[in-house]
Amino acid sequence: MQKRRIGILTYRNGKRFGEPLFFRHLLAEGEKLGATVFLFSPKDVFESKRQIRGFVPGPDKSWKSKMFDWPDIVIDRYRYYPKPQHQAYLAFRKRPLFTYANSRFSSKWNVHQVLNQQSSMQPWLPETFAYDKDVLSNMLQKYPLIYVKPAQGTAGRSILRIKQTSSGYDLLGRGLHLNKVSHKINTRTELHRYVKEWVKTQRMGEEIFLVQQGLQLDLISGRTVDTRILIQKTEWGEWDVTGLGMRIGGVKSSTSNLHGGGLAKDAQKLLAERFGEPKATKILHNCYALAHQTAEAVESNYGRMIELGLDVGIDVSGRPYLIEINPKPGRDIFRKLKRKKVYQKAVIRPIQYALYLLKEQQITPPR
Ligand SMILES: Nc1ncnc2c1ncn2[C@@H]1O[C@H](COP(=O)(O)OP(=O)(O)O)[C@@H](O)[C@H]1O
Ligand SMILES: [Mg+2]
Repeated sequence: MQKRRIGILTYRNGKRFGEPLFFRHLLAEGEKLGATVFLFSPKDVFESKRQIRGFVPGPDKSWKSKMFDWPDIVIDRYRYYPKPQHQAYLAFRKRPLFTYANSRFSSKWNVHQVLNQQSSMQPWLPETFAYDKDVLSNMLQKYPLIYVKPAQGTAGRSILRIKQTSSGYDLLGRGLHLNKVSHKINTRTELHRYVKEWVKTQRMGEEIFLVQQGLQLDLISGRTVDTRILIQKTEWGEWDVTGLGMRIGGVKSSTSNLHGGGLAKDAQKLLAERFGEPKATKILHNCYALAHQTAEAVESNYGRMIELGLDVGIDVSGRPYLIEINPKPGRDIFRKLKRKKVYQKAVIRPIQYALYLLKEQQITPPR
């Protein structure tokens, strides 16, 4: 049988790619499974010739390009970059050029509104609204801790935590370049002014900002701790949790993202230390339920997916909440945890699933 061709859609700057190491591993695993796998970006598509300029690993850390026939299936790994290219990608992605293994996703705000309609999801979701002054006032009445963050954010940028204290408000945040921000404010009026200014200066274009119930995530004193769960489709097309790990934010950090200096830790161990074995097992069980319910809910609303990286906050009482769904997740956490087998599985599964789709569902490329 002819080799299957799998294209990986991504952003590139010359011969530089966003996730070079992961892509090298992904392409190598694809070859081992007998498929032809290559990277390409929207500008590499030659529609009339039905050919693609694809990129594969060259010597050392280089990439070499060559022409490929039309892919049988495409995995979309194009990530959000707040740049004009992103608009071009969006227009490109809307055209039915390929069979995509994974569907497009939406902003945090859209996702929240959609999932909040489903009774299975409601218990997992922190209360969230689109920012305006009244919303902020109401949330301040209700919660001692509040997060203000962009609906299209990534890597922990532009996130502001507001903590109410006896003398006013402690603000702790991350700017556009992940720079730490910390500030004390005395009055409500000043706070409104500060948040208004925050939203204005951190905003990309017309981006919506969210006001969210703040979760008490200091499972380790003074740190923001949360859990990253990777749930993926298997080679038989079923959802399975590949692995999970905890991320510990730095001192005086409102976020735990690894990009912002967060540390990776074994989840079972950390939870057992904090809550004791029996409760830790129960919490993990809930996390798995959350992951499966989220995957089902996302697919039923947005279409077929390959994998999701879930940011889950387990608060100090042991209750898990869904903070964010990443449809194009990294898997670095497993390398950082030295879980080599889990990392390998996390890399191979998207290829296995794409091959499963081609085999089981007799997908043929659009002509
Ligand atoms: N409502 C919240 N309560 C507590 N911590 C939060 C909340 N929202 C975000 N965080 C912290 O900030 C991090 C980044 O937030 P997230 O919504 O995942 O944005 P990003 O897309 O930038 O990763 C989370 O992983 C968590 O550590
Ligand atoms: Mg996140």
